[in-house]
Amino acid sequence: MNAQPQLINKVDRSPAEKLWKMAASDMASVDQLILERMQSPVGLIPDLAKHLISAGGKRLRPLLTVATSQMCGYKGDKHHKLAAAVEFIHSATLLHDDVVDDSTLRRGKKPANLVWGNSPSILVGDFLFARAFNLMVETNSLEALNILANASSVIAEGEVRQLAALGNMQMDEVSYMQVISAKTAALFAASTEVSAVITFQSEEKRKALHGYGLKIGLAFQLVDDALDYSGFESKLGKSVGDDFREGKMTLPVIRAIEFSKHENHSFWHRVIVERKQNNEDFKKAVLLIQSSKSIESTMELARQYSLEAKELLNVFDPSPWRTTLEELASYIVDRAS
Ligand code: IPE
Ligand code: IPE
Ligand code: MG
Ligand code: MG
Repeated sequence: MNAQPQLINKVDRSPAEKLWKMAASDMASVDQLILERMQSPVGLIPDLAKHLISAGGKRLRPLLTVATSQMCGYKGDKHHKLAAAVEFIHSATLLHDDVVDDSTLRRGKKPANLVWGNSPSILVGDFLFARAFNLMVETNSLEALNILANASSVIAEGEVRQLAALGNMQMDEVSYMQVISAKTAALFAASTEVSAVITFQSEEKRKALHGYGLKIGLAFQLVDDALDYSGFESKLGKSVGDDFREGKMTLPVIRAIEFSKHENHSFWHRVIVERKQNNEDFKKAVLLIQSSKSIESTMELARQYSLEAKELLNVFDPSPWRTTLEELASYIVDRAS
């Protein structure tokens, strides 16, 4: 029996089903901790937090912490606290991100900022961040705390770097990779590296786990950016076209602009730099992106990172956990949501 069915019953875990089955009892403990630690006598806090957290989400990052800890033979319960902390950090960044991005859909529902407003979303995001730090401290691992604290500041740097680059058509692939490495891959890398810390792995294995998380994180965001032009809202649970409306220079756009620099320069300048967009512009952008094949090349890059991530696991002895982590790297690029 699941301890908190109302928290997790809406999560579609089918794509990574095998890993979910293996991690089911660990993840039930993680969900239990999440439920406990989002409580507060200030009713708005659990109301708003529950709105986001009970809407599901893939719980990929805590799953990575649990699965990598298990692969390293961990016997204890610190991995549950670290996994819950990781999901709290992720949830806090989503609350803040939906304010920054003016989102209209998150996990198939109205984002919290559209229900309660921007200020409550930001403040409850701060609360969840702080609760993540309580959980980390309780593990008595200063090293794990350091890794996740670092990741938290790097995420914020990535978000600010991206904000500063909005509407800048000069943004190149190197800057783009810096942004996604910070805003997304850093938390994936931290979620796997902490497992090496609590299981006292060698420097080589710790680096491998950090690299595995980082690379699947990069692959994950590349796919997310491709899906923003090619996915379906019903599957994604969030709107498509948001990146375009914000003038965000993601890889599909950077490559499409480069592909037809001369013929379509004035179009891209108007929609990205001047941010003057009409109803037909998103369709036109999708057509230009299609003719440049930049969705395909973005996905190809994601596939490369996913393969490199899998190879990094070769320093670990073969085991069912290692195999499922390899499969998870594939799921990250094959996913449609
Ligand atoms: C959303 O992450 C934020 C990005 C890094 C793109 P997820 O797609 O993992 O979000 P949930 O938790 O499953 O909703
Ligand atoms: C994801 O940002 C990274 C963080 C939340 C820090 P995005 O803005 O690209 O993600 P979605 O598309 O809203 O999930
Ligand atoms: Mg964003
Ligand atoms: Mg967003």
